[in-house]
Amino acid sequence: MKNVRHLIEPKDLSNSEIMELVNMGIQMEENPQDYVNLCKGKILGSLFFEPSTRTKFSFDSAMLRLGGNLMGFTDVNTTSAKKGESLGDTIKIMGAYTDIIVMRHPKEGAPKLASEYSTIPIINGGDGGHQHPTQTLTDLITIKKYKNTVSNHTIALCGDLKFGRTVHSLIKTLARFNTKKFYLISPKELSLPKSIVNEIKLNYDIEIEETSELEAVMDKIDILYMTRIQKERFFNEEDYIKLKNSYILTNEKIEPAKKDMIIMHPLPRVNEISKEVDDDKRAIYFEQARLGVYVRMALIAKLLGAI
Ligand code: CP
Repeated sequence: MKNVRHLIEPKDLSNSEIMELVNMGIQMEENPQDYVNLCKGKILGSLFFEPSTRTKFSFDSAMLRLGGNLMGFTDVNTTSAKKGESLGDTIKIMGAYTDIIVMRHPKEGAPKLASEYSTIPIINGGDGGHQHPTQTLTDLITIKKYKNTVSNHTIALCGDLKFGRTVHSLIKTLARFNTKKFYLISPKELSLPKSIVNEIKLNYDIEIEETSELEAVMDKIDILYMTRIQKERFFNEEDYIKLKNSYILTNEKIEPAKKDMIIMHPLPRVNEISKEVDDDKRAIYFEQARLGVYVRMALIAKLLGAI
């Protein structure tokens, strides 16, 4: 099999490649007209075995803004996987019809498996509770734009740190960029997997504090990264119901926060950020989702060898 670059998890990119994508994404956002033909004639295969709004449509938007085309599915039941076709065979076929694939799958490791059968780049658009590397690129372009640098921040990650794939990818990546301190805020049932905490402690000199109290850290942080309790990953509804209202951010709760703190969320949200917070200028989660288009443009262009 020829040597093809895939993005399965953030560690597939070096620190300098990550910053190259972030900076290129910013350039693309500022001067979109310069890139309208960059991927002309290329086709993005968009294979969504699990629902998505942002990842699916920001990739579509990214490819269209680069002058490319799209094909794919959002309902696997309309494909021959329904007849029992394997993931490997599906990938071989889609690899003959398209030039680059983004796929989301409920099973951890499915994009990695797909990459083993693929002669074209595979981008992981989220696999189970495992990884979501392009959300991390989206988060980093947002942090760079709003805080000027992705380094040296005190960051609180709050909510479902156990099942939240966005958090798993983000914390491992931010650790590579000299984060000052992580506050990990969750109910104990949804704490960050020990393997990730230990990996960071072993490899980086970063302070990590685990707590269940969001309000107690509010005045200490530069970035608050809220996450949804991931209902679809629970084994039973009772456990979800017990934990679903663990954190609900309100204007009152962010009162003590720094004036230049930013509030991020990969979205979708359920109830963990009250709608009243949307009007606070520190609430940048919709802008975060918008910026995801441009960093994904940079990623597609890079993996296709167009930049
Ligand atoms: N942030 C994110 O992955 O959103 P979607 O599930 O809508 O793609």
